[in-house]
Amino acid sequence: MSRWWPALTAQGLGWILAMFIVRELEPAWQGTVLEAGLAGAWAALLSHRLREPAWRSPMQFAFSVALYAGQHSVVPPPLWAGAFAISMLLFGGGLTGRRAPLYLTQARAVDALLACIPENLDGVCLDVGAGLGSFLLQVAPLRPRLTFRGIERAPLTALLGDLRCRLRACGRIGLGDLWHADLSEASVVYAFLSPEAMEALWTKAVQEMRTDTWLVVNAFAVPGQTPERSERYGDGESEVVYAYRLPGPGRAAGRADPAGARPADAAMGSRRSSAPR
Ligand SMILES: C[S@@+](CC[C@H](N)C(=O)[O-])C[C@H]1O[C@@H](n2cnc3c(N)ncnc32)[C@H](O)[C@@H]1O
Repeated sequence: MSRWWPALTAQGLGWILAMFIVRELEPAWQGTVLEAGLAGAWAALLSHRLREPAWRSPMQFAFSVALYAGQHSVVPPPLWAGAFAISMLLFGGGLTGRRAPLYLTQARAVDALLACIPENLDGVCLDVGAGLGSFLLQVAPLRPRLTFRGIERAPLTALLGDLRCRLRACGRIGLGDLWHADLSEASVVYAFLSPEAMEALWTKAVQEMRTDTWLVVNAFAVPGQTPERSERYGDGESEVVYAYRLPGPGRAAGRADPAGARPADAAMGSRRSSAPR
């Protein structure tokens, strides 16, 4: 089933509820921005109740208000078109396929990342879905033996990220689709994507990466695989970095984790496991 239905349901029900409430209790709000704000508040709440990702609630609110602004010509049409184009160039990378929107590797994840990226490793570290370069900028100075590169699908994001990384000599980010990237040269692939992407990424990494190279992932564990190491960097369920050692092309796809360890369980188990060397 399409994943759009919860978003549409929240937005549609939000407007129905707002229009009903305004008609019954506050007719003076009809057709005003207050009615749109009420619809947005309902849509945000419903989005949360439908277990949509947290970032969708503010988007639902903004969408209702934007609908009002669009209808009442508050914003001139060329401005809408410009804002839409810029949004697509910045955030478009996460809209299709295995949806991985733009959010950034946080500074507090850096220690966990360093614990998962062996210090004595040479070669290329590739950030697949590099965004604005937050991973490269924070980790490249601390792992000088590695050459850092990134690949990013959203054009404006790739351009800005590449500029930031080049200015601080932290590697390069190229425009492209990670699913068409060649991972065979990488000693480490870093991914901060989405739950939907992890299984396919693992399959791709196993097919292409050399034996004893590393897939390091932020927040979303690979289903059914036991990480060599995992490191927490916060109390949230997804605030974990996982390091998987690759078996090499043509080998078995890693050790299966029969319990299908949830992120938090895996992280706790990992504290007993040894650091990657
Ligand atoms: C969660 S962000 C991570 C950004 C960066 N790695 C960081 O840690 O700060 C995910 C990024 O992956 C990009 N992305 C999603 N699908 C992609 C694909 N198929 N190829 C390349 N980039 C992709 C999105 O545009 C987004 O910028």
